[in-house]
This record gives sequence, C-alpha cells and structure tokens, in this order.
Amino acid sequence: MATMITKEKRTEPRIAAEELQPKLIQKQEERAAEAPVVEENETDRPWSVFGTKKLKEKKNGYTHVSLFSGVGGLDLGFRAAGFRTVWANDIDPDACDTFRDNLGEIAEGDIRTIGWPKLEEPLDVLSAGFPCQPFSNAGSRRGVSDRRGDLFNYALEAVRELNPRVVLFENVRGLLSVKIGRKLLIEEILQQLHNQGYDCQFKLIDASNHRVAQRRLRLLIVGVRRDSDLGPFRYPQEKPKIGLSIGETILDATPDLPNQGELMQLNPQAIELGSYIPEGGSWKDIPYDKLPERLQYIRNNMEKYRWPKFYARFHRDDIAGTITAAFKPENAGVWHPVETRVFSVREIARIQSFPDWFVFGGRSVKSKYQQIGNAVPPRLAYEVALEVVNVLEGHKPRTLTDFLKEKRPLRPSDKAIHYEP
Ligand SMILES: C[S@@+](CC[C@H](N)C(=O)[O-])C[C@H]1O[C@@H](n2cnc3c(N)ncnc32)[C@H](O)[C@@H]1O
Repeated sequence: MATMITKEKRTEPRIAAEELQPKLIQKQEERAAEAPVVEENETDRPWSVFGTKKLKEKKNGYTHVSLFSGVGGLDLGFRAAGFRTVWANDIDPDACDTFRDNLGEIAEGDIRTIGWPKLEEPLDVLSAGFPCQPFSNAGSRRGVSDRRGDLFNYALEAVRELNPRVVLFENVRGLLSVKIGRKLLIEEILQQLHNQGYDCQFKLIDASNHRVAQRRLRLLIVGVRRDSDLGPFRYPQEKPKIGLSIGETILDATPDLPNQGELMQLNPQAIELGSYIPEGGSWKDIPYDKLPERLQYIRNNMEKYRWPKFYARFHRDDIAGTITAAFKPENAGVWHPVETRVFSVREIARIQSFPDWFVFGGRSVKSKYQQIGNAVPPRLAYEVALEVVNVLEGHKPRTLTDFLKEKRPLRPSDKAIHYEP
C-alpha cells in the first residue's frame, strides 16, 4: 500500500535549493557520460552511430552472412547494432577492396560458383541485396530475362543451405513489377521463403525517414523462421528529418577528409550548362540557345518525354535525391548546391550516411561513385538491425528494472517501459 506523506515526516532537514542544484547537475553529467553517443537531436548526424574510427565487431555478437555485400553498407549498420559478419561475398574486386579495408574479410567471386561456407555456429541473419540494375528504373527493366536477374535464386539457395533465423532481402521498388513467367517475382520469392519455413513481410522504405540525408526508396523483405521462438519483426519507426539537408550534410566537409578531393571530371560543355543553373534550379534555367540540339529537341517535346528534370541542382536546404551507381550529372541531382562541380566521393558517401573514416578504394573515381551508389545506407541498415535484434531476443519488453540498470535518461525514441512488480 502506498505510504501517505504526513506533515510530520516532512520535518526532516531540507536541502537548500542552492545546495541541491550542483548535485543534480553533477548527477546529470555523470548519466550523460554513461549514455551512448547517439541522441535524438541535431547533433545526431546520420553517421554518428558509427563513431570516429573503424568499428570493432562485438565478440559473441549475433551472426550475419552477407551476400552481394558490395562495400558493406549493410554490414556496417549491422555491426554497429551488435552483429558479426561471419561470411560475406561479392564479385566486384574494387568493392571487395573497400570492404576489406574498412570491415575485414570478404570472399571475392561469383556467387554462382563460389560455394557456400561451412558455418561453425547457428546463423542468426542472412542478408542479400541481389543486383538491382535489372529491376531499377535507372536500369534496363528487362527483369529476369537479364542474366543478373536470376541471382535471387542463389539468395534462396543460401537460405536453404544456411538456415538463418532471420532473412533480409533488400531491393528496389522495380522488383515489385517484375514477372517471372505469369507470376510476379515478389510472389515467387515470398512463396519460396514461406515454403522454406519463414513468415514474411515486405515494405517500401524511404531512407530519409530513418536518419539518412537522402530520399531513397528501398524494398525490404523480411522473413522470420517459424520453428524458432522468435519475436515478430517490426519495421523501424519513422523519425523526423532533422539535420538531413544537403547543406548540413556536406558543407562542412574539409579538403583533408578522405576521398574529398576526388571528383568526376566533367567536359567543358557540361560545366558551362551547369553554370547557368542556380541553387535549387535545373536545366529549365539554361537559355534555350545554349542547349545542345538533343536537349533542345526534348525541350520542344516536353510532354512526350514526361517533363524530365535534367541537370537538377538541389538547394542546400533540400534533402538530396537518390544517389545512383551511374552518377550522371544530366540525369541525377548530383550538382553541388553552390559550386560549379558535382559532389565529391566523400560528399556522396556522407549523403549515403557513411562515416568519414570509411575510405573508398578502387581503380577509378567512377568506380568509387558506383560502389557508393550501389550501397545500402548504413544508417538505414542500423535502424533495421536494431529491430532484428528485437526479433532475436524474442521481443522481451524493456522493464523498469532494465531501465534503472542502464542508468541513462529516457528518450522520446525509446519504446515503452514495462512495469513488472
Ligand atoms: C545493390 S549492390 C549490394 C549492396 C550491398 N548489399 C550493401 O550493403 O552495400 C549489389 C552487389 O551485387 C554484386 N554482384 C553482382 N553480381 C554478382 C555475382 N554474380 N556474385 C556475387 N556478387 C555479385 C555487385 O558487385 C554489387 O556489389
């Protein structure tokens, strides 16, 4: 029963307000020092969860097999959330070099011939972002008739062979309209996963709702193995887009940052066209007589070409558009908001939420743009990985006892805390 506070009990010596204040401040400072670096405010830059130097893997962390790993955007996000990549694979030598330099071992080779690893421990999560070019709007849209389109079969085979507790497939929205025979490919994938014992769901996610400074739509298919005692998967909650503008993301990048001096060199004509475009503008700001013939023809037939927005130069207060692997100054909004140049390799890495310590290697600047454009934004991966942890932990709710043990302030982003007497 609750004790009533009587007037008598209140007669104990009172601490003077002036005395109490420094004690409270000291306590708050101690708690702040113990709290993780990430805070839900403007100081939470998209990449701040990854710290300022290479991120070590957590010993005994959850196990992760990563297929089509590229430079490891997804692996970085999962590592920050407490996962260990026990096997990763990609065919691209440049992406593999970058992966090795920043994250560690990767098996380089074609997934069709490399063979599955013998794992020494049960597998918690298998991720696969099979190539999206055959399905994406930026690509040919030939779907599964494209040679790369059959690669999803290898992801499904890996699921059969390695029996992960959770499966995560990542792809572009275009996957939803691809057909395989008479059936939609998405249905085929879900059906096969279901038959292999997984409860599945899929969702289209905009990375800018998950602390990434970029509007980037991605399809996330998640399967949870039915025979294990796991919690349900919930997609991460959307978060406010505070601090995600292009200006806040790139304008403080100093020349000494890795990859900041690396830029795609444009031809004089492209530079001239770009110089007519103000911040927030596009090719519509270029005088007609300065346009090359091909673009004049399109300008004369705008309806036929569905009002294209070539040479877009976003305003520094805007959120960037999707960084693509092709990185064409004509088709994608890759112009620097205030300088007559396109974004540097470091700038697009930041837009994709890679930390500044993550260095991109490879034979050419073009390859670096491609590696970054192909990547899953690590911050989005991190937000998803936290939810996968909840699944693996059986979604045990956080209790008052857990909360008190953690000794950190409650944040608006925290899930509700349960009281167990
Ligand atoms: C969309 S990217 C994946 C991005 C990555 N999951 C990440 O988190 O950053 C697709 C990757 O598939 C790789 N790839 C394409 N064909 C392959 C094959 N036959 N075997 C292995 N990897 C392949 C490409 O090199 C590319 O890095």
